[in-house]
Amino acid sequence: MLRGNIKLEDPERFTKPFEISKEKVTAALSAALDKLEATGREYGAKMPRSCRSRGFKYEFDDIYGDWDAGMYGGCYWLAYDLTGDKFFREMGEKVTELFGKRCEEKYGMNSHDIGFLFSPTAVAAYKLTGDEKARKIALEAARYLYEYNYSKEGKFIIRGWKSWESGTGCRTMMDAMLNAPLLFWAGKETGNADFTQAAIDHVATTEKLLVRADGSTYHHYQFNPADASPMHGLTLQGNSDESCWSRGQSWGVYGFPVAYSYTGADYLIPLHKDVSYYTLNHLPKDNITAWDYDFTDVKAVKDSSAGIISACGMYDMAKMLPDGCEAKAIYENAAAMILDSTIDTCTGDNGIDYDGLMFKVTGFAKAKKPESRHIEQIAAYGDYFYLEALARYYKHDFKAYW
Ligand code: GLY
Repeated sequence: MLRGNIKLEDPERFTKPFEISKEKVTAALSAALDKLEATGREYGAKMPRSCRSRGFKYEFDDIYGDWDAGMYGGCYWLAYDLTGDKFFREMGEKVTELFGKRCEEKYGMNSHDIGFLFSPTAVAAYKLTGDEKARKIALEAARYLYEYNYSKEGKFIIRGWKSWESGTGCRTMMDAMLNAPLLFWAGKETGNADFTQAAIDHVATTEKLLVRADGSTYHHYQFNPADASPMHGLTLQGNSDESCWSRGQSWGVYGFPVAYSYTGADYLIPLHKDVSYYTLNHLPKDNITAWDYDFTDVKAVKDSSAGIISACGMYDMAKMLPDGCEAKAIYENAAAMILDSTIDTCTGDNGIDYDGLMFKVTGFAKAKKPESRHIEQIAAYGDYFYLEALARYYKHDFKAYW
């Protein structure tokens, strides 16, 4: 498909240079790090469960959790990266060690969120400290992802391989854009071309089948279990099959630049522009995303995580685009606007004693109802990408772990 056609509906909103003062970012970062340290001292190296913190409090499993667990561990690696503080490193190491056990015991290794779990923990640990044990854990996770959660026939990362026969597992989804980086990384690290090719093919399949002509995305895509041939797009967490679930879209805004950083494939630049401009055309006036892009009114239920993930993705692509390129300035301004509004309206005092670094995160809008689960709460993935956005703004040579 010809990409790069989506235009901004209100270009002036994003072409005006927008900066956040150094004082504001420093204060926000300092508050976030203090809160993270308090969280670590209170709860220790445990595993938050996905979408269950209904009362603005984390709920933890003693041993293994869902995809949030990777994001929780990743927060400590981000904090260590930014401060060099021993406490943050020890927390990162302890969570990474739990992921080592998970690998050893083959617990939950068929999860479709393997990349979310192992990139911000084991890969981050290896990149930041050179720890060989962490490298081994990350490579083992990549091997699992390739062997059990990749369809060679259909060329996509599978959601839930166990239910393949029933057809529900013969699917991919936008979330898998953040699983592909584990394969890219492992391919580069080991020279195993199968890993790299699987990641390249998965990204191409996503472009072909999940990104629509208007730059929006299907959350899920169903393949035929008989032969893995393409069938149709649908949703799990969005408002309808034809709507655009905002966090799903943000995995594209974030994931295509990561793929570009590994491959340099030209088609990813106009593709990323389309998904980013669609996002910006649906950004409510207060710059905090709604849970689904069917809704653009400021009063709609929010998912602040979708906006902050998109901001990180736009920062990432902006860094790789040449000076003078129109989209580069748009991405920098838009990302700063989203981060600024997130600091103002999703952090700080909200009259509730909440865990986590930011609120208004919506987890799982099942059964077409935004009320269904975890609405405008806190979640480790919101915390992780908020901290990453601050790191990107604060530290210009910051390198993400994906
Ligand atoms: N599994 C990632 C998400 O729910 O966004």
